Amino acid sequence: MKFPSKVKLVDVGPRDGLQNEKAMVPAAVKIELVHRLQAAGLCEIEVTSFVSPKWVPQMADNAEVMAGIQRKPGVRYSTLTPNMQGFEAAAACAPDEVVVFASASEAFSQRNINCSIADSIERFRAVVEAAKARNIYVRGAISCAVGCPYEGEVPPEQVERVARLMKGIGVQHIGVADTIGVGTPVKVQRAIDAALQHYDINDVSGHFHDTYGQALGNTLASLELGVWQFDTSVAGLGGCPYAKGATGNVATEDVVYMLHGMGIDTGIDLDLLVDAGQFISDFLVRKPNSRAATALLNKRNA
Ligand code: HMG
Ligand code: MG
Repeated sequence: MKFPSKVKLVDVGPRDGLQNEKAMVPAAVKIELVHRLQAAGLCEIEVTSFVSPKWVPQMADNAEVMAGIQRKPGVRYSTLTPNMQGFEAAAACAPDEVVVFASASEAFSQRNINCSIADSIERFRAVVEAAKARNIYVRGAISCAVGCPYEGEVPPEQVERVARLMKGIGVQHIGVADTIGVGTPVKVQRAIDAALQHYDINDVSGHFHDTYGQALGNTLASLELGVWQFDTSVAGLGGCPYAKGATGNVATEDVVYMLHGMGIDTGIDLDLLVDAGQFISDFLVRKPNSRAATALLNKRNA
């Protein structure tokens, strides 16, 4: 079996992670987290989202966070933009990349962004056009690519449809997201294969929440297909406010540990990454939700 020799990780902790915290995290803490992630070698960070503050108050400081980051050359900073209002606000903060997010299930589309899948694609069409006019790269996310909190199991045909629609409006990259972390390796491979019907292997990434402890297995199953880009979250932060019971993304520390152990390059310094995870976990008064980080911290303290 031949795995990719290099993997790109996008740390989504500042966005996917902190959007789900009950306690408000000050902008200064979010900014410090981004600084620590870039110092650890992350080359892309999903910083925040430009969504309605009534829906997700945790991201209301989006512009302040974007403005406070001391950007490091070579690092890409991305933000979520569900519509033109979000795009206009994001564009004023000069992101390298914006993310439009659709769902493979109708019920989740309604709950998360208050419209049907087809309507969401029409909203994204304008966003893609505006982004391209400003030379901003557009990534798409397909939520509930294997399971939905409201509809249950999601067949790969629904992923194929959304990937086709995204391709049709010019979305440049597609992330296959297991929003509620119910996927298992073969189901995830089928979802990825569905996306690969419309996107090149270099334009597909995996985004796995770890609710059922399957995310590392799902990552490995994706690597087997040749996928080399993944969203992960420092300290395993995360979840979606509209997917109750779903826990965080797979911890960046766990994925880095696995990849480095397989001889796969990430460009990330695991020790500095563990420090970043401890920083945000200390602020949240909890332990990092990462087995690798826990083991390394125990070893340090032994
Ligand atoms: P809506 O209520 O249908 O929007 O919400 P609307 O266009 O009818 O506008 C209603 C109000 O919202 C107006 O304000 C607008 O100005 C305002 P009012 O006049 O009532 O004062 N508004 C906005 N404000 C700021 N920024 C905006 C914006 N748009 C409208 N962009 C909307 C539709 C999409 C806005 C809403 O449903 C929303 O914000 N949803 C966000 C949900 C969200 O952030 N979910 C979590 C992120 S997705 C995720 O985590 C999944 C992912 O990780 C992959 C995976 O794991 O699956 C990416
Ligand atoms: Mg997510």
